[in-house]
Formats: sequence, C-alpha cells, structure tokens
Amino acid sequence: MFFEHVPRRGLICAHRGARSIAPENTLLAMTMAKACGAHCWETDIRMSKDGKLIVFHDDSLERTTNIAVNRALKKHPDCSVNCYTLAELRELDVGSWFLSDDPFGAVASGEVADVQYETIKRQRIPLLREVLDFSKKHSFPVNLEIKDLKTPSGDVLVVDRIMEMLFETGTMDMVLLSSFRHEYLHRARALNKEIDIAVLAEEQHPQDLIQYLRSFQAAAYHPNVDICDEELINGLQRAGFRVNCWTVNDMKRAQEILRTGGGVITDWPQRLI
Ligand code: G3P
Ligand code: MG
Repeated sequence: MFFEHVPRRGLICAHRGARSIAPENTLLAMTMAKACGAHCWETDIRMSKDGKLIVFHDDSLERTTNIAVNRALKKHPDCSVNCYTLAELRELDVGSWFLSDDPFGAVASGEVADVQYETIKRQRIPLLREVLDFSKKHSFPVNLEIKDLKTPSGDVLVVDRIMEMLFETGTMDMVLLSSFRHEYLHRARALNKEIDIAVLAEEQHPQDLIQYLRSFQAAAYHPNVDICDEELINGLQRAGFRVNCWTVNDMKRAQEILRTGGGVITDWPQRLI
C-alpha cells in the first residue's frame, strides 16, 4: 500500500506537485516533484461538466488558467470548473499564469530556467488517468485529495469511479486517498479494505479523534498545520497512525515536525530534501 512505498517517518510530500517551481497540479509539477526527490506528491480531484475526472485545485478557473482572456471559452460568470466539458477545459493554458504572477518568486529568482518557459506554457489540465499512469511508470506515490465534486448531497458514487480507475491502472497500492468530505472516505473503505486513507481536517479535530480515525480504518490523519502540535503527532503515532500536516512552508516548523516523525505536505519540497 501507499505507506509501504514511502519512509516510515519524516514524509516529504510535494503539495500540488512542486508548486513553488512549476504551475500547480500539472504534469510538469509532478515531474519536478519527482526530480527534486520528494517522497510523494499531493493533488486534487475535480470533475468536468461531462463527468470526466481531472486534477485541478480551485472551484473556479480564474486564478490558474487563461480563461479570463479566452473570450470564446468564458461562458459563465463564475467560471466554475464543473460548468465546462473536458474538451473545453483541455483548451485552457494552465501554465502561463505562473510565469506572469510568479506566486513564489521562482521566476524572478531564476529558479525556473528559461528553457522551461515553453514547457510551462504548454501545460494543460491533466486527466486523473494521466496522473495515475505517471505515478505507476515512475513509481511515484500520490496522495489524491477528492474535492467536493458538487454531486447531490449524499451522492458518493463518484468514489466508485475513482476506485475503478485505480483498479484499472493498477495503482491502488500507490495511492493515499484523502478528503474533507469524509463520506467519500467511508465509501472508499466500503469498496476496498486495503487502500490507504487519510482523514483531512482544517479548523478543528473531529471528536474522539482516534476512534473516529478507526471508523475509516484510516492509515493517516492530515490536519492543517495550525491545529497540529508535537503532542498530537506523538499521541497518534503511538496509536498507530501517520500524521502529515499541510501546508508547511515554514522550514523551521517543517524540520520540527519531521523530527517528531510526522510528515509535511509542502510547497517547497526542494528545500527539505
Ligand atoms: O491535502 C492537503 C491540502 O492540499 C488541503 O488543502 O486547499 O491545498 O487542497 P488544499
Ligand atoms: Mg489539496
């Protein structure tokens, strides 16, 4: 399973790929994450209007695509991903914004080589299947975070399709499945006894945390770093769980967590390796 492919302690996971040096959630970001020596990477699953599974973080296309300037495509005022078909989404450029906005200062500091500019501009929204194929080909484990797929309340059947794809691509043992929508995780567990599951938490811990994690037979807990401390990590590790905090971009804090044996999901994997 996923945790058999990564170190027991001190996991370094590249958040949305090596997103400080490449546009997030692209095949390039994944390639850079692997190249810089991260143990695994994290990415976000969303769905197109025609029901295709893709990787993309935001609900809206505005921040990380060229939809704002693509008049032919900008059909909806809110630009929600799930208002567009896969064919429409694949037309979008998801790399150029990274060069112009330079969100982590990597372009200005020269961390992004000139030769990469053309590759960056060619990035398109990847299909989940492409991510899984990459993961398998390069033995690069991946944490798939299932975003709220905006299916009707209580409809968790989309998880069946994700699981089917893991089965078809032979990647079940390379994937760690996580979500803030915990009903997706229950569904995944009902479908498969083996897959590694991580429960995500943002503002507060679920009540009776250990009992709660056991109800999913979860392998890991993924709290926001702001609600995580060494005591929590130690306690959960004693109870048999891995703890990986997100998003840890303060390198001193990252080192503290890694020393405790916890893991970090970070935008800067290249600085920690
Ligand atoms: O999976 C951890 C982290 O990615 C959750 O937050 O918003 O970056 O997907 P977000
Ligand atoms: Mg995520």
